[in-house]
Amino acid sequence: MELNISEHTRNILGLQLPTDPRWVNLAEIELEEILTDHAYCEQKAATTCISLIQKNPEKTLLLEKLSPIVTEEWGHFRMVLSELKKRNLPLGRQRKDVYVNKLIAFQKKGGSPQERFLDQMLIMALIEARSCERFKRLSEGLVDQYMRKFYRKFMESEAGHYTLFITLAEHYIDKKIVRQRWSEWLEYEKELMNSAEVRGDRIH
Ligand SMILES: [Fe+2]
Ligand SMILES: [Fe+2]
Repeated sequence: MELNISEHTRNILGLQLPTDPRWVNLAEIELEEILTDHAYCEQKAATTCISLIQKNPEKTLLLEKLSPIVTEEWGHFRMVLSELKKRNLPLGRQRKDVYVNKLIAFQKKGGSPQERFLDQMLIMALIEARSCERFKRLSEGLVDQYMRKFYRKFMESEAGHYTLFITLAEHYIDKKIVRQRWSEWLEYEKELMNSAEVRGDRIH
């Protein structure tokens, strides 16, 4: 099935700002850096899901849905790792994740447990959505056909994840509240993307 992610992100998740078209060209030059950054993104996705499970043992649906995501994200990490190995590249150290740190700064401090949970779900949805959009860019914009296919697999997989976090939020919290907060997150992310430096050594 052909996935039209642009339409998805516009209509369903509504990312407000598409990635700067220059980014994919910069990323192509620094593909080694992108691989290292990507490896850590996948690792963090897996560990965040584990931590969400640990913090919400009473939420049955969340446990059920996130447990396989942990395996999937860890599988993604291993896929990137083997790509690095193929190129005789070390994993390298984790880089400062400016994008995620700025998102974390927008989370409600000292809110109710429900508000904190909602922000945790929405921040994950946003990271998945933006990652998905970035993988789409790579899968369409890179010259290297092999790498295009490589990123396409990630794009398809992350497309399923972003909707899952919204669905989970709506399962536990009133839909209207979820939508309202989601639109605030989208607005914030737009500003963030707008003011961020376009650099080719990071996924976000
Ligand atoms: Fe992933
Ligand atoms: Fe994911």
